[in-house]
Amino acid sequence: MTFTVEVDVWVPMRDGIALATNVWRPEGPGPFPALLVRTPYGKDDAGLYGNPKLPDVFAFVDAGYAVVAQDVRGTSHSPGTFAPQTHEGADSLDTLAWLADQPWCDGAVGMWGGSYMGFAQWQAAPHNPPALRAIAPVMSSADPYAAPWRSPGGALSQDAVLTWSTLSAVRNLSRGLADGHGDPADVHALMSGLADPRSLHNPLPLADRSAVTRYLPWLGEVLDHPERDEFWQEISAIDHCDRITVPALQIGGWYDVFIGETVRSYTMMRRHGGSAEARNGQRLLIGPWSHADGTDLGTYPDRSFGLASSIKTVGVTEAHLRFFDRWVQGRTETSDDAHRVRIFVMGIDRWRDEVDWPLPDTRYTDFFLAGGGRANTAGGDGVLTRDAVSGETADTFLYDPRRPVPSLGGTVLASASGTFPGPADQTAVETREDVLCFTTPVLEHPVEVTGHVTLVLHVSSSAPDTDFTGKLVDVHPDGRAILLCEGIQRARYRTSLTDPEPLEPGTVYELAIDLSVTANVFLPGHRIRLEVSSSNFPRYDRNTNTGRTIAGDSEDDLAVAVNRVHHGPARPSRLVLPLVERPETEHPTATEEPT
Ligand code: BEZ
Repeated sequence: MTFTVEVDVWVPMRDGIALATNVWRPEGPGPFPALLVRTPYGKDDAGLYGNPKLPDVFAFVDAGYAVVAQDVRGTSHSPGTFAPQTHEGADSLDTLAWLADQPWCDGAVGMWGGSYMGFAQWQAAPHNPPALRAIAPVMSSADPYAAPWRSPGGALSQDAVLTWSTLSAVRNLSRGLADGHGDPADVHALMSGLADPRSLHNPLPLADRSAVTRYLPWLGEVLDHPERDEFWQEISAIDHCDRITVPALQIGGWYDVFIGETVRSYTMMRRHGGSAEARNGQRLLIGPWSHADGTDLGTYPDRSFGLASSIKTVGVTEAHLRFFDRWVQGRTETSDDAHRVRIFVMGIDRWRDEVDWPLPDTRYTDFFLAGGGRANTAGGDGVLTRDAVSGETADTFLYDPRRPVPSLGGTVLASASGTFPGPADQTAVETREDVLCFTTPVLEHPVEVTGHVTLVLHVSSSAPDTDFTGKLVDVHPDGRAILLCEGIQRARYRTSLTDPEPLEPGTVYELAIDLSVTANVFLPGHRIRLEVSSSNFPRYDRNTNTGRTIAGDSEDDLAVAVNRVHHGPARPSRLVLPLVERPETEHPTATEEPT
């Protein structure tokens, strides 16, 4: 393969700024179709070229594409100020228009890249730039409020926000220092926050993060907008699916901070996409991975999903090439509409091709919360049952924001949270009195749960606002309680993310908590467990229980809440599980892993 690379080509934006761009071209005059990636992490950085979750640039060039990599405004070689997600729509459109005008480009462009690079794609797509033919966001989101910055239930994704902002502030500061601005001592202050999760996450008020906001004022704006107002609506492609006419290939991980939104943008585009191509051309690929580097092997301390779960076995580059060959090059013979979705099903630890998501044969099934009112800890009397429940009962716990339930694995971003993302054993938190556990009897037959998991709770609180959390857990015969998926609902946002309403202390309310998505077969000998509490920190911020602006509350404001979960025929608190019956689920071949 021979190719040329032009480094630091300057691409003009509408306001006169020019962005630093590398252009890789196959041999010959072209014209070539182009694949554009726009990154805040450095177009020259090895991470863009050696990340197993991203496609191989060399393979793109070898397949006849020009590859175009750009530093977004205010990062690496590009001038300006990095104001996350503020300029990505307009700057992507200007870059696409410039590309289509180049003599070596045939006018057809696809966009690719993970995470933030996916934001750039989603922000461009609703404007329907003429050159754009397809997008391929990996582990990303079309609704940045719902993920990664806050959550579908309105709590702040504290770990993702503070970790990412601090890293971005460090990059901005380093850039400033090279130009003679900023205080070198601040590098140390910021980096020590990342090295010590307690110093990053514990100090209150949350809004008082001047070391970061000095170099990334955007953090202050995020904390100033707890509701899903215009600040968020403007950058959310999910609100404009009907205007998006290009297909998307999306890749996600069951333990990725973005996963709920990766899947929701797929379903929204399938239903409401603005053209037949956009609706039919959606593709979804999900493995048992998290956002952190190294988890693409599917191997974690408390659970290993086997060799087949490695990202290497699914061919990320090949999936991109099939997709772009069809939609950017217009080669229709590679149609695979019968298999839009490829998922790794945990438990049986196998890949499966599916026609769509949610799986068309899903049966949403209620599992009711029951017991004698002492569901506190895994040793309590909480029961999860498909049978109708008799008798009204309530389980009570004290939620003290000074002693929140620590996050253990799950969809945290990385280890700056004090834990590592993924399928962690929850045994340590299940001994806490403020964690209610509802568990089925030992299963005699396999039960497959693949899809969207919802928890409906009838709750009351002594506080004007509080949170309720839920976790779906697979209890293994050896006692490990392996986390599958999780969620949180801030009570003030129970009916609306734009018009919060306080609780009337003591009144019982019905809350629906989005526990995100999973694909897992609970094998015979296992038990299905639901954990309910009021905190999962620092995955989410702590509700201070005051009803005021949470980010403004200080340590002295923190209040203890007496929280209750009611259950019985009149108050049917329940876990709604997406059950799927398949022949291969009935005859599982996976063996229990040794750890
Ligand atoms: C990322 O680009 O990896 C990223 C962006 C926002 C939040 C978390 C991760």
